[in-house]
Amino acid sequence: MGANIHDMNDGQRQTPILTALQAHVATERVSLHVPGHKAGQLLPTGADAWMQAMAALDGTELPGLDDLYRPVGAIASAQALAASAFGSDEAYFLVGGSTVGNLAAILAVVRRGQWVIAARNCHESVWHALRLAGARVQVVTPALLYTGEGGAVYGPVTDELMRRAVASCPQAVAVVLTSPTYAGVATRLEALVGHVHQSGMVVVIDEAHGAHLPFHPELPASGIQAGADLVVQSTHKMTAALTQTGLLHRSGERVSSQRVLRALRMVQTSSPSYPLLASIDMVRSQLAISGLDRIAQVRAHLAGGVEALERVCPGLLWKPDGVQVDPFKWLLIAPALGLAGIDLADALREQFGIFSEWADEHHVLCCWSYANSAQDVRLVVEALAAIAKTSASRSGKGLTASLDFAAYASAAQAELAVLSAEAHWAEGDVHHDHLTQALGQVACESVTVYPPGVPLVLPGETVTAEVVACVLQALRRGMRVDGVTTSGTLDFVLAAPEARG
Ligand SMILES: Cc1ncc(COP(=O)(O)O)c(C=O)c1O
Repeated sequence: MGANIHDMNDGQRQTPILTALQAHVATERVSLHVPGHKAGQLLPTGADAWMQAMAALDGTELPGLDDLYRPVGAIASAQALAASAFGSDEAYFLVGGSTVGNLAAILAVVRRGQWVIAARNCHESVWHALRLAGARVQVVTPALLYTGEGGAVYGPVTDELMRRAVASCPQAVAVVLTSPTYAGVATRLEALVGHVHQSGMVVVIDEAHGAHLPFHPELPASGIQAGADLVVQSTHKMTAALTQTGLLHRSGERVSSQRVLRALRMVQTSSPSYPLLASIDMVRSQLAISGLDRIAQVRAHLAGGVEALERVCPGLLWKPDGVQVDPFKWLLIAPALGLAGIDLADALREQFGIFSEWADEHHVLCCWSYANSAQDVRLVVEALAAIAKTSASRSGKGLTASLDFAAYASAAQAELAVLSAEAHWAEGDVHHDHLTQALGQVACESVTVYPPGVPLVLPGETVTAEVVACVLQALRRGMRVDGVTTSGTLDFVLAAPEARG
């Protein structure tokens, strides 16, 4: 649990980066350093009113403002406060989101040719990191959870599945998992982390969607509290910092600070945005001091909203049995209203000014945060009830038939698959082949059908008959398929023969 619950102290009220920036603004009379806008003196007309305040704080590595690459002053203090608030041993500020956090975490723990166990539903930044690191990859595929007839999302990685993965790849140096997922599905991490550690491997958790988790005891456990070595969080997704911010947490003795810092210097800019750094600092203070109360309050509003929604639109909200789902994520099953997900998202936006996070044929994903109000929850429930009334007569017109998910599941390769390292590394040295010709060859780009929006094939995996059938079926139904070119030829991108390993 974060420090606000067990040992909140007044130190958490401090915001060292903002304070240092304010002191700098108060003393500087002439700027003879970058950035060239000189504290916002010459911003393009039209943008000045919006950007002036932020530009005034747009500092650089000046005396008093510290250096993200080698922090010893304000940034070091802010990072120490973040570690204490979130409960990690060390926290590093990120100005490239969880994307750079994942790149740095993996580059810090994996050397070329080493094995890593990674869950299939990891974000593309994880696959990019594994490529950059030159890792050999054992893929773990969690079971799909069906969201009614029309769709599916990945479930958690179970202890049992992780035991099998570790047993089949004992030479791995690290395990990389995403929890919670984009849809809010959380893996129960405590026992899993313990088992992976016993096998001598490091645990990296992509917690991009879970920066709020350490601040309320009834939310799914954060990777930090579960004992993971490295945990990556976006502070702009579920908490209130500016877009592009994040934290990389390090705990325990398995990964050294030096390796993390060196990796961060390889992937982060040497000119970080001070407004972004200050926003992480301010959000940490806010969460440490009032995160518990704020989260509790919005959780209560959301619980009320869920009850109301079940009365007016039964079956609209996805509620899987026995699976932990973050209550700040609502996955709406649009066919329950006789609508496609995209149409439901359009109706919310066009008729009510409600912009959802994401929608596909069958789902609409709503991302709440502790910044939402009781009024927001009421408006959303009322809007959904109003849409439900007008759509009651439609009975699913306009919906495409659902994909054959049994075929999809078997197409998602084996539960434990090994990527061809050479194809996984191959960059640019690729050729295209028509879908049916690609059978038995090795893919060089991932192929993803929406929904469920998870890769059917990863770079380095073999294109099977089930994969080809599934892609053809999805394309015939007008579904979105990323990773095959649809400009007439329907190609997979394949590794060149010498790269197929
Ligand atoms: C699971 C997951 N990990 C990492 C990222 C990358 O996060 P960011 O946008 O902060 O770089 C995302 C982005 O959506 C994500 O969903």
